[in-house]
Amino acid sequence: MTVMEKTRLLGFLEDRSQEDWLRALDEIGPSIHAVDRDATRIWFAFWPLELRNALSESPDPKEIARLMDLEGNWRLEEQIDSSVSFLYGAHYWARVKNAVLTEADATSGSLASTIRSIAQKVGAAERVDSSLVLGIAAVGLMMFRQAGVECFECSKDATATPPLLPRDPAQVMAKRLRRSSDGLFTFLKGVNRKWDVRWEEKREDGIFRAINGQDIAMAGGDTGSDYRHLDYRRPAGPVPVECRVGSCGYCWIGLLAGRENLSPITSFERERLRYFGYGTVNAPDDANPLIRLACQSQCQGDVTLAISPWNGELDRRHDEGRKKLGTA
Ligand code: FES
Repeated sequence: MTVMEKTRLLGFLEDRSQEDWLRALDEIGPSIHAVDRDATRIWFAFWPLELRNALSESPDPKEIARLMDLEGNWRLEEQIDSSVSFLYGAHYWARVKNAVLTEADATSGSLASTIRSIAQKVGAAERVDSSLVLGIAAVGLMMFRQAGVECFECSKDATATPPLLPRDPAQVMAKRLRRSSDGLFTFLKGVNRKWDVRWEEKREDGIFRAINGQDIAMAGGDTGSDYRHLDYRRPAGPVPVECRVGSCGYCWIGLLAGRENLSPITSFERERLRYFGYGTVNAPDDANPLIRLACQSQCQGDVTLAISPWNGELDRRHDEGRKKLGTA
């Protein structure tokens, strides 16, 4: 693809709003293999256009980060190859990036048809069904949109950061669906039953247990371990926490499996997700949505999580900005 064609592709993508992207995800969703259907939407929740636009449009990104109370690592351009590792399609990440850069006819159709076209190319080249790479193709295009031509091109041949999920998608699905055991006489334990919380499904030790009815943040803290070597926001267990009462927004998670095994979302938690700007992919009437606050989600069964590398208050930027402009 020539420089002009890449610029044209970027322009085509820049004309699409977050809602356009979510509509495209709705359209292709049923065709994405089940192993990545929810993971794809979770990636889009973790990396909303609003965050990218706020940072790139400001003459002072540091001030915007301060206004948004951003913590962790919110710079997607530094995580091009690690942010995708929780998707099964990460196995094909370098091929996807190259396909995005060589997709000459990308702007001839809709966003959804552009995503499908890249997935078909990658699927044919890798000899896998395109359903397995459809989600990562959508991520690849959004990554191109957010990272920009130069940054994306620099990373085009790099593979996704290991470890990755097993090569066999059936194996991944089976593990997510497997019901945990609580030792001998599990069936007698009733309310004292414990559940598996897989906070990092690619690692054998990426798991902790939650007592029936215990919230995920509290259960993670009960491990008694410090995970600050992974992320400074994890002083008490593998899930980032600070307030434990729904105020700080540190503990937001995506549910790769078992979201129906959590307590239904409350109006308080739904409002907090809206305030933080995390709930973009959640359906308004879904009692068990994909994105939750770990400190507000009680375990009633096994779950598999993805953890966001950053947290913040996207709405606050608007409030502060309006005040500064005198329009609040
Ligand atoms: S720990 Fe603060 S919102 Fe959950």
